[in-house]
Amino acid sequence: MIVLGIETSCDETAVAVVCDADVPKKRILSNVILSQHEVHRPFGGVVPEIAARSHLLHIDYLMDQALKSAGLSYHQLDGIAVTGGPGLIGGLIVGVMCAKTVAMVYDTPFLAVNHLEGHALTARLTDNINFPYLLLLVSGGHTQLLIVEGVGNYELLGTTVDDAVGEAFDKSAKLLGIGYPGGPEIEKVAKTGDPHRFKLPRPMFGRPNCNFSFSGLKTAVREQFLKIKAGQHSSEDISDLCASFQTSVVVTVADRCRKALDVFLHRHNDGKSLVIAGGVASNERLRNVLEAVAIERGMSLVAPPPVLCTDNGAMIAWAGLERLKMGLTDDLDFAPRPRWPLDPGSSSVSGAGQKV
Ligand code: KG4
Ligand code: ZN
Repeated sequence: MIVLGIETSCDETAVAVVCDADVPKKRILSNVILSQHEVHRPFGGVVPEIAARSHLLHIDYLMDQALKSAGLSYHQLDGIAVTGGPGLIGGLIVGVMCAKTVAMVYDTPFLAVNHLEGHALTARLTDNINFPYLLLLVSGGHTQLLIVEGVGNYELLGTTVDDAVGEAFDKSAKLLGIGYPGGPEIEKVAKTGDPHRFKLPRPMFGRPNCNFSFSGLKTAVREQFLKIKAGQHSSEDISDLCASFQTSVVVTVADRCRKALDVFLHRHNDGKSLVIAGGVASNERLRNVLEAVAIERGMSLVAPPPVLCTDNGAMIAWAGLERLKMGLTDDLDFAPRPRWPLDPGSSSVSGAGQKV
């Protein structure tokens, strides 16, 4: 089975072709990603209208590229998958229209994939893991802990009550004047910093539930920054602040994961995997600490390579392939959804992407 996947929900235009080979390494036949970081950098965040226009400009070429590098033509596809939501509506419309057109012209099954399900199933593409598993989904728009019971079957254990963790990285980096997107920049700068110099809060640490909060931490970074005389910030000040911020995030997220693992293991005492996904899952510090947390419980951490943690087409194609195998195709009257929670039974609503 061969599926092409399109991702246009935020600031990457991405197209990939995957197949259901038994060996994970042979599954991704092509994976092209055009990042819009340069376009949005002057604004310090994603400008939705500019994002949509850029997707429209590049999608045709990227579709051709993905097929060409897989050595395939449209006739050979068994399905065409696209991010149907959640995300920025302009970009979603571009991707969905494009996928529907191909589906109609070539009479190919159409699959509207939840972007979060794409992240959630990536570990099955890369590591062949079985259900159930505990998923920490950490990106620019989402911070969630979910039990993944099966395709389309998710239980939300905890989410953020305010900012997403990636948003906290991006906004703190903007404040510190160290570039966009903030996550990778903070990680780089933090490498030379002292994580103990600034006492920053660890929101939600020790709480009995599995929720997160990051807006207070972001405000604390701002307060510490303003305490240093304007215009007199040394590079050491900035790297110490970045290291202290990153440590607060990692310690807090590890604590929330321990709580969620208690719930997960109570339900599935033979559970084996803690999976991380989403752009923030590329953070090396976070990966190392969560690996130790998983080992504490006799489990293993499954962390896809960074290029498959940030937004990409392969995760959408793979989720589409899993859905296609179950006969879960969609009609061509599907309407893109700016909001689309993975666990409809929960009160949490998935955000519509991060804007300036
Ligand atoms: O999953 P993603 O590519 O897009 C969304 O669906 O949001 O995640 C993007 C987010 C951004 O906030 C970015 O700053 C963050 O992931 N990010 C990181 C790192 N790489 C990307 N955060 C911390 N450390 C990183 N190395
Ligand atoms: Zn994402």
